[in-house]
Amino acid sequence: MSASQNGARDDSGRARSVAIIMDGNGRWAAGRGLSVAEGHREGARALRRTVEAAIDLGVESLAVYAFSTENWARPAEEVGALLELLDETIERELPDLAKQGVRTRFFGRRDRIPEASREKMAELERETAANVRLQLWIAFDYGSRGELVEAVRRLVADQVLPEDVSEQTLAERFYAPELPDPDLVIRTSGEQRLSNFLLWQSAYSELVFTETLWPDFGKDALGAALDEYARRARRYGAR
Ligand code: IPE
Ligand code: IPE
Ligand code: MG
Repeated sequence: MSASQNGARDDSGRARSVAIIMDGNGRWAAGRGLSVAEGHREGARALRRTVEAAIDLGVESLAVYAFSTENWARPAEEVGALLELLDETIERELPDLAKQGVRTRFFGRRDRIPEASREKMAELERETAANVRLQLWIAFDYGSRGELVEAVRRLVADQVLPEDVSEQTLAERFYAPELPDPDLVIRTSGEQRLSNFLLWQSAYSELVFTETLWPDFGKDALGAALDEYARRARRYGAR
């Protein structure tokens, strides 16, 4: 099944596939007189809490935006803190989630990530490959435009004929072809934009924006977003 076909929800109106743009760590920290690194650390705790809530609320697939291709433009100290936090999260938060049946996969560019982190990412992916309770997808060094360009490069490298280029053959060449299209995309912190996240995959996603800053996000906020989703009517262009 192609990535663009398998995001369909079930008859209950429940969102099975959710994506979150985890934004607001910097403002959360600034509001408390803390360093931005502290904000990101609290963000990692919110991620763990939210994954557990997602399991409880019946979400099957959760994709989260952790680091964009544009985030390299931040001060070196902050980028360094985020890379460190990637390692710490893999070592501290994700193994417990693995025990709860979470399968974790990363998507995005890997070539700019330090080798030691890359190995940790691959190891966690291997170790959790058989888990089925919740599919967790972590976007790291991810940008949707870069993903599309890379997919086209792969089509060309594979010598796919023009008549064989389709939504399916393109989407098969994304970083994570098995990632289902999100039913629901949530962005925290009040910003109302996609910031280069899943532009293709969210073609028909419902968008929910919440003022909650990411470090304050958890079961209540996720439940509220899912309730909002349940009230929406998805038409996909039809009557
Ligand atoms: C989101 O929080 C985390 C990343 C983008 C890595 P921000 O760091 O963007 O928080 P704000 O937007 O500055 O509050
Ligand atoms: C988007 O947040 C990226 C992540 C949440 C990882 P940003 O804070 O980087 O986005 P902009 O700059 O406000 O659009
Ligand atoms: Mg931000």
